[in-house]
Amino acid sequence: MNILNKTVITKSKKETVSLGKLIGNKLNPGDCLLLSGDLGAGKTTLIQGIGKGLNIRKILSSPTFTLVKEYPVSKTSNFIHMDLYRIKSKEEFTKSGMNEYVNATNICAIEWADKITDYFRKGHYYYINIAYINRNNRKIHIRKRSY
Ligand SMILES: Nc1ncnc2c1ncn2[C@@H]1O[C@H](COP(=O)(O)OP(=O)(O)O)[C@@H](O)[C@H]1O
Ligand SMILES: [Mg+2]
Repeated sequence: MNILNKTVITKSKKETVSLGKLIGNKLNPGDCLLLSGDLGAGKTTLIQGIGKGLNIRKILSSPTFTLVKEYPVSKTSNFIHMDLYRIKSKEEFTKSGMNEYVNATNICAIEWADKITDYFRKGHYYYINIAYINRNNRKIHIRKRSY
């Protein structure tokens, strides 16, 4: 089963972290994940698992205030965790230089990427949407899109 193209229901935070770990295991330099879902859906939680799957030891916290957090994955590749909650437009994203992290060598996970869909219109991306079902259940949809 290809984990990078499916819908999964997780029944706890722990299950979401485990799913993230499986995803992280499959990622390669240049891969970029665009995450959407309401506040508290579990975007940061899933990304914590992805970090584990990439063998990042540090606990990943939300970059809501710092906007970007960077973790080395190998000599040539970094894992970039971004949060666009406070970004209002594509222009703001490019002017701040945040877009330069999205390149061929980094692995990126971007929370609230749907705020600037016009920036991500063209290219190869994994889209992950997390929907809140109830207190402990989440529906996580992962698909790859490229054009
Ligand atoms: N199945 C689940 N998957 C992920 N988080 C869950 C789940 N069930 C409950 N939670 C809780 O929901 C919250 C998700 O928070 P967070 O990952 O920071 O969301 P976001 O980054 O989308 O705002 C956490 O408090 C977590 O414990
Ligand atoms: Mg978050």
